[in-house]
Amino acid sequence: MTDTSPKRPRGTMPAPAPTDTAKTYWDGFHQSVRTPADWVARPNPLLVDEVSGLQAGTALDLGCGAGGDAIWLAQNGWRVTAVDVSAAVLAKAATAAARAGVGDRIDWQEHDLTRSLPAGTFGLVTAQYLHSPIAGAAEREAVFASAATTVAPGGTFLVISHVGFPTWLSEQPPDYLTDQLVPNSVILDWVRATPGTWTVDVDKVVTRDSTGPAGETGTADDAVLRIRRLH
Ligand SMILES: C[S@@+](CC[C@H](N)C(=O)[O-])C[C@H]1O[C@@H](n2cnc3c(N)ncnc32)[C@H](O)[C@@H]1O
Repeated sequence: MTDTSPKRPRGTMPAPAPTDTAKTYWDGFHQSVRTPADWVARPNPLLVDEVSGLQAGTALDLGCGAGGDAIWLAQNGWRVTAVDVSAAVLAKAATAAARAGVGDRIDWQEHDLTRSLPAGTFGLVTAQYLHSPIAGAAEREAVFASAATTVAPGGTFLVISHVGFPTWLSEQPPDYLTDQLVPNSVILDWVRATPGTWTVDVDKVVTRDSTGPAGETGTADDAVLRIRRLH
């Protein structure tokens, strides 16, 4: 049989199978990641930069993955609700949080964000690289629009996204990956279509170092959007 699935450049997310759901895709992805015994969950330095000046309170981490950001937030005084669709990665993150001594400050919740969200509103809502080849543009728009409703008046919504491929990538990325690159202006339109009045505190693109799976060095562009809900 001919394999017609899109070619996956090394170091990028695999193409989903036609039968995949967000849960089967991401559980499979996270289970395939080898975790060394001395692994320590680390936060995204861009998140650390953006959040360090904020007053700690309640935080919601959307698509928390292995928990590096949620653990750092808990260590810095936040009471965190951390959400992912993958039970496999939530178990790994909870183990790392317990090891870091902040297990009691993080509520890990399994949700498919296209279907449900934790109850309540939060002083900080973060979405770090919430990309998913499983979700089309309409689903992503719905996820960001409903996420915006979980930001309390006066609270902050921080979105950090890939907006370019690493310079070390030599192959042409397939459509299912290029479709993931959404600029801040589009995310802002999605959020502004929801109830609430928003002000933009940070809207920028940052070029950071990037290392490939075989140790290739290069850079990649990330977009940082930090907006505040006035009321
Ligand atoms: C690219 S990873 C980023 C993980 C983490 N935020 C980070 O910065 O390392 C995307 C994460 O979102 C989760 N995810 C993807 N689709 C989701 C959905 N529909 N609902 C909840 N989580 C989802 C994945 O399991 C994965 O952990």
